Amino acid sequence: MTESPIVYRMRRRRLQPSMRALLRETHISVDDLILPIFLHHDASAQHPIDALPGHFQWGIEQLPLLIQRISALGIKALLLFGIPANKDAQGSESWHANGVVQQAIPVIKQLAPHLLVMADCCFCQYTDHGHCGELDAQGNVDNDATLQGLAKQAVSLSQAGADVIAPSGMIDGMVAAIRTALDQEDMQQVSILSYAVKYQSAFYGPFREAAQGSPSIGDRASHQMDIGNSHEALRELALDVEEGADWAIIKPAGHYLDVIARLHQRYPEIPLVGYQVSGEYSALIAAIDKGWLSEQVITESLIAIKRAGASAIITYFAEQVASMLSSH
Ligand code: PBG
Repeated sequence: MTESPIVYRMRRRRLQPSMRALLRETHISVDDLILPIFLHHDASAQHPIDALPGHFQWGIEQLPLLIQRISALGIKALLLFGIPANKDAQGSESWHANGVVQQAIPVIKQLAPHLLVMADCCFCQYTDHGHCGELDAQGNVDNDATLQGLAKQAVSLSQAGADVIAPSGMIDGMVAAIRTALDQEDMQQVSILSYAVKYQSAFYGPFREAAQGSPSIGDRASHQMDIGNSHEALRELALDVEEGADWAIIKPAGHYLDVIARLHQRYPEIPLVGYQVSGEYSALIAAIDKGWLSEQVITESLIAIKRAGASAIITYFAEQVASMLSSH
């Protein structure tokens, strides 16, 4: 018999499906999933979002349908975005007690008391110019004026019952401003999930249709991170943690796995959440619909985000994945 040149046979570990299951390092579970939801000011709305197939802008009267379906699937967390009736230069509707998100939170809590309610905290849907804060005379987002508005918005959302405030504007000092305001109002229990590392990405395209918050002129390059940078992400995360962030989002997720992995290695003690954004979802859905990709890409894309180091994932696939997992 000729001597085999093979040093070791890795394939022995992959032979049986049960062996492969035992040895899989990264799993996705319904506990990992956070579902984004768009709340429309028209109470009876259930408007399909063209660029985000399977998703709707929901009016408050339609929420029982959605919330019961989600709870039955075992989904445990929601991220809420509001689409208000009125927009102005400051985005003042975002801190009104009868704002669209403020009205929806108690309804959701009553329907499903154990659902973790996370509220996006930003201005782009609320300003008439579509930017993530008040503008200065030059038309740039006025950082420090915006901080005051963010603090008001966070307090108002927390008073409505939000468990988690998720500031998404990449405004310097936003976490400290929100933490200080919440603590002053005796809301120490509300946690801050900061969008610490958010890139100026074209993958947000479908979201802009969903949330109706595109900038009318210009872009978000003066506050969101440059797509070529990764060292800078370390500084962004460190600052937000210093300011009091309890956990942090990296966004988009799928094309920024290197950033997730790097942050997780450097700060293993900070829970990271990957946001698989609208464009990541829509691109995969389009290819699946055409028959060019199989549905495996859905779980594959989520496992990749966890394997990189995320503890949880915000994803528009949450419902599909939860029902796939429950049928196995
Ligand atoms: C707004 C916000 C955006 C997203 C979440 N919050 C859009 C943006 O920054 O332009 C994108 C989410 C997605 O694409 O799914 N502050």
